[in-house]
Amino acid sequence: GREPVVLGIETSCDETGVGIVRGNTLLANIISSSMDEHARFGGVVPEIAARAHLEALKPTLDQALAKANLSLKDIDAIAVTNGPGLGGALMVGIGAAKALSVAIEKPIYAVNHLVGHVGVDVLERGELQTPTVALLVSGGHTSLLLVRDLINDVELLGETIDDAAGEAFDKVARVLRLKYPGGPEIDKAAIGGDPKAIRFPRGLSLPKDMEKHRYDFSFSGLKTAVARWVEVAETKDEPINVADIAASFREAVADVLVTKAVNACLDHKVPRLLLGGGVVANKRLRELAQERCDAHGIELRIPALSLCTDNGAMIAALGAQLIMAGRAPSSLHFGSDSTLPV
Ligand code: KG4
Ligand code: ZN
Repeated sequence: GREPVVLGIETSCDETGVGIVRGNTLLANIISSSMDEHARFGGVVPEIAARAHLEALKPTLDQALAKANLSLKDIDAIAVTNGPGLGGALMVGIGAAKALSVAIEKPIYAVNHLVGHVGVDVLERGELQTPTVALLVSGGHTSLLLVRDLINDVELLGETIDDAAGEAFDKVARVLRLKYPGGPEIDKAAIGGDPKAIRFPRGLSLPKDMEKHRYDFSFSGLKTAVARWVEVAETKDEPINVADIAASFREAVADVLVTKAVNACLDHKVPRLLLGGGVVANKRLRELAQERCDAHGIELRIPALSLCTDNGAMIAALGAQLIMAGRAPSSLHFGSDSTLPV
């Protein structure tokens, strides 16, 4: 049949995203971020994020419709993230999506944020190549998925047992007195630094951890190790080489992420790796992923950064996929689920 025009709403963290797709074609992807409002707290404050979504949703929606050159009557369905994410923030998007659905008398689809990060690939390639392993790394999540089928078969292989990878960048940046968000700052600070200067720990990579936690991540020990290193240097009045620390820290994060993702590909004989999430902007992560994937004959897919960071287009794209797969819409009774499984 005709390709559905789907409007997607994303409010699981600090980005208010409204995207519009027609089938697998991207029509609009507008994002408003409350990042700046969280800067002085060094991390996303849930209350502030929820309020910012409330204020940003209407203008973001209007901009998306204008960009797509459409009006609400052209929309065939609404898709909205119902988890995982911040409960209050999710509720703002869900409330708006339900109101829209009722107002325009079109079906609503509740979709999983993590699966959205995977589904976004259709906007660039038309179809998701499966099976694929997906490594999703942002300020809110660090997950490794095995995707045999986007709609019917997504398996969580592992995830962080404490901090998300992006959170580790943000916290270490703070230790190094760099700005928030920490990722880009650490990328900058690492220029000219020696990644081998300090051997920081690779969480859950010891042989004893590799049975139960083969695909899980842990970054809180790494963050503590960096803080300790700085503290010791300061008490000894030794100079702190920020470039070396930043480069060594970044190396540890990239190494453990890529090692486990490539292991997942090899273990499950999957010849593809897809990346998603804001940490994908990291230079060393991209480089190392490409290097190791090339070495093992694994095809590496990195969507455009505007589709990697949280956005509404990925939610719309997944909604369209669900519709084209013949899935029934959600009833209006769903709520937010901050720990929604894939
Ligand atoms: O996907 P994203 O925009 O959404 C949230 O999770 O809110 O990811 C933001 C996270 C932040 O923690 C930020 O420090 C991190 O992604 N990030 C990076 C880089 N750019 C952003 N981490 C490492 N290297 C980067 N270049
Ligand atoms: Zn995300």
